[in-house]
Amino acid sequence: MGPLLTEIDHVAIAVHDIEAAITWYAEVFGATVEHREIVESDGVSEALLRVADSYIQLLTPTRDDSPVAKYLAKRGEGLHHIGYRAVRDAVKASGGRVIDESPRPGSRGTTVAFVHPTTSFGTLIELVQVPS
Ligand code: CO
Repeated sequence: MGPLLTEIDHVAIAVHDIEAAITWYAEVFGATVEHREIVESDGVSEALLRVADSYIQLLTPTRDDSPVAKYLAKRGEGLHHIGYRAVRDAVKASGGRVIDESPRPGSRGTTVAFVHPTTSFGTLIELVQVPS
């Protein structure tokens, strides 16, 4: 069996003020926004800033009951999850210890599934299947 994780797709950071964060990354690192999207099902607004073949994904909640809003309230701003590009069977391989029993639509037309941080040594993992 070859590796199921093929690349790092994005590093997701939860922030209170996404516009301020975008401005900071632009002014400090010259990073520019390549994609913006509101994912209603997750209650998040996201901005993707390209870093080589990967992204920084800035996340901010669009409603008080979204998981990212709860995360910010509990833990404050910071690293939220790591998104890995993964082959199709990666979800099954994670042993069923996933938040999403089967992959579901993510942003950018991707298909995603999350692995629970209690099973993955404290880091929320998002498996991302990029459309071919
Ligand atoms: Co993500």
